[in-house]
Amino acid sequence: MANHRISCPLVLALLSVFFYSSVVLSATPVTYNVVSLGAKANGKTDSTKAFVTAWTRACASANPATIYVPAGRFYLRSVIFNGPCRNNAIRVRIEGTLVAPSDYRVLGNGANWILFSHVDGVTVSGGILDAKGTSLWACKSSGKSCPSGATTLQFFNSNNIVVSALTSLNSQMFHIVVNGCQNVKIQAVKVIASGDSPNTDGIHVQSSSGVTILKTKIRTGDDCISIGPGTTNLWIENVACGPGHGISIGSLGKDLKEDGVQNVTVKTVIFTGTQNGVRIKSWARPSNGFARNILFQHIVMVNVQNPVLIDQNYCPDNKDCPGQVSGVKIRDVTYQDIHGTSATAVAVKFDCSSKNPCSRIRLENVKLTYKNKVAEASCVHAAGTSSGLVQPSGCL
Ligand SMILES: *[C@@H]1O[C@H](CO)[C@@H](O)[C@H](O)[C@H]1NC(C)=O
Repeated sequence: MANHRISCPLVLALLSVFFYSSVVLSATPVTYNVVSLGAKANGKTDSTKAFVTAWTRACASANPATIYVPAGRFYLRSVIFNGPCRNNAIRVRIEGTLVAPSDYRVLGNGANWILFSHVDGVTVSGGILDAKGTSLWACKSSGKSCPSGATTLQFFNSNNIVVSALTSLNSQMFHIVVNGCQNVKIQAVKVIASGDSPNTDGIHVQSSSGVTILKTKIRTGDDCISIGPGTTNLWIENVACGPGHGISIGSLGKDLKEDGVQNVTVKTVIFTGTQNGVRIKSWARPSNGFARNILFQHIVMVNVQNPVLIDQNYCPDNKDCPGQVSGVKIRDVTYQDIHGTSATAVAVKFDCSSKNPCSRIRLENVKLTYKNKVAEASCVHAAGTSSGLVQPSGCL
């Protein structure tokens, strides 16, 4: 017994020294400053090579690694940061601005400006990504033939990603894309582009699980957040959207065989002057897709054209519409504590599929006005329940 009383604390002390030192030693990060690797902070000198070198070294490091981008403007062409890497703790700490080439053709024919592919444990924090998209938007609106444009920042087939306190400015196309990823946290991000910029979705998520988007401000020309097929366990909280096209699930049902969208929470969001508020949209054609277990909660609408919308006859500009019936099944969608003002008479619109009516739609404490009067609701092939004060009412 006596031996035990003495040896236990001793063993504990030895163990804690062992764990403490191993944690401290293994956590010692290596830092790669892009300027030390040849990048120039003048906004003109092509610094792409320095960024690629920094990534190659960080990725090959057995210890956690930091890529440091100091203040200043760094001219960057399109880059792919490829994994897998030897460590799963790479931090890209940006204090400056990454600037795309002013000639939109340099990036515009590729899919991405900055792509992280097959990485695990990457954090990107701070900084501004200035994609200089305005000249491409102008080309598109002139009716000339133009490249489709690049996504500013994409994570592809990657896990355990954090993006924080980053600003995406004037993307050519989508600002941030999360595609084929697990466990992604996007927080305190800002997205800025003009309200009439084409296809500049703020954050697009698809084929991904466990994505969290927090405390984000999005002003753009297309959806603030778009949620594509194969998205599950998505959490969106504390977002300010507008201008923009709102937060959209879809468009779904583009393909006959398509993964569904499941377990999406959108809470504490303010939409200001947007085309839509919370929307689910699908093409009118056969598909095995679905959207279910969706919660929209604590939403404020300020002068929004379509505050609450399910559109299963989605066809922008009414061009090349499939003109069939949507196969996408929509069920268990809850709207809780939604209030504010609509910019059109119809504030709640459920235009569901005749073949697959929307079911278990729940409206709880919804109050939307149009010109200081209760707005209107319109339901086609939609069933569900209302509880609490629901204005407009009488639609489900
Ligand atoms: C739904 O997603 C959240 C994360 O957004 C997760 O915490 C929760 O466990 C998921 N629920 C189910 C039933 O999978």
